[in-house]
Amino acid sequence: MQSSTHIQANPNAIQPAYPSILDIQAYQIGKPIDELTRELGLTDVVKLASNENPLGCSPKVTLAITQELGGLARYPDGNGYYLKQTISDKTQTDLEQITLGNGSNDILDLIARTFVSSDDAVIYSQYAFVVYQMVTKMQGATGVEVPAKRYGHDLEAMLDGVKNNANAKVVFIANPNNPTGTLLTHDDVRAFASQVDALNKSEHRQVLVVLDEAYIEYSPESNNRALLDEFDNVILVRTFSKAYGLAGLRVGYAISSPAVSEMMNRLRQPFNVNTLAQVAAIASLQDDAFIDTCRTMNEQQRRWLCKQCDVLGLAFVPSSANFVMIEVGDGQAVYQALLEQGVIVRPLVGYGLPNWVRVTVGTPEDNTRLIDTLTDVLETV
Ligand SMILES: Cc1ncc(COP(=O)(O)O)c(C=O)c1O
Repeated sequence: MQSSTHIQANPNAIQPAYPSILDIQAYQIGKPIDELTRELGLTDVVKLASNENPLGCSPKVTLAITQELGGLARYPDGNGYYLKQTISDKTQTDLEQITLGNGSNDILDLIARTFVSSDDAVIYSQYAFVVYQMVTKMQGATGVEVPAKRYGHDLEAMLDGVKNNANAKVVFIANPNNPTGTLLTHDDVRAFASQVDALNKSEHRQVLVVLDEAYIEYSPESNNRALLDEFDNVILVRTFSKAYGLAGLRVGYAISSPAVSEMMNRLRQPFNVNTLAQVAAIASLQDDAFIDTCRTMNEQQRRWLCKQCDVLGLAFVPSSANFVMIEVGDGQAVYQALLEQGVIVRPLVGYGLPNWVRVTVGTPEDNTRLIDTLTDVLETV
């Protein structure tokens, strides 16, 4: 029998639904700790590559999951009633405005599958979260990548993108942005949403503005929840994978107008959020003190990391999230050298940023290890 490693992939054997799928690079995940341990025999590995919460999750979550373990023979609540209820209380929205996802990537995928056809265009920024262009290509639609301004979104240019592309259907905005950490002010986002709304009304268009707030717990001042009361075409996307520390359980959500949510729920897999994820997400929303602790540690440690970059003479982009993008020279070589010392960071070649790496803000011990190792590595690379 042939082992799978002997099977030659033949890209011409079967054609995907849209030719643009051939251009998609599979999503580059942060290297898992176990994989590095297996490959290099290292025992003491620090992962600062996927913007996970180094403090884990609230103890209330652990308790809630444990109490639920006896019920796993049953399907999850396909409507996620109690989770939606908790999100609704937290965000002051109606249940009909909430769509649950298997992580927020599931929501981004759902937005594209529901609203974007191959005749449409999707607007996103250079250096914005890579999944926006992936879901655009998935639908065979035209991606319009707008040049970034100081590594962040240039909303004026993005508005021009909407104006100049009559078939624009969705605008994706990550705020704060991954991987650059840049933040747009509430006023700037509101002005953008308002101008797109005016365009929709005057030109009978239906452009949706998606605000991806995966890191919003780290910069609550830019929470754009209020826009939902003003504009029907705004969708907020959030996740439990970052500050809430539930990346392994896969749960995220969108809040939008009821009409947008109703449409997305037609395509949503009925049991896309599993039982443990639902109870964990509910419990995590009931522990504000845990989030406050995480935010405070993140701010202190991010400041410390940036100060160490100054000491090392390394440029960085000021960040509003739980990671920092640092200019290290040959990003891939530095990534590899750090990996060999048991420190996993994220190279950014795929984002067109070959001189940079992105590091997640860890605990004080993690960050000291990173800076010590980086100091050594920079002498040799
Ligand atoms: C901006 C942004 N959006 C969405 C996601 C997806 O996260 P998840 O699918 O774990 O909710 C990420 C993860 O890195 C992200 O950085």
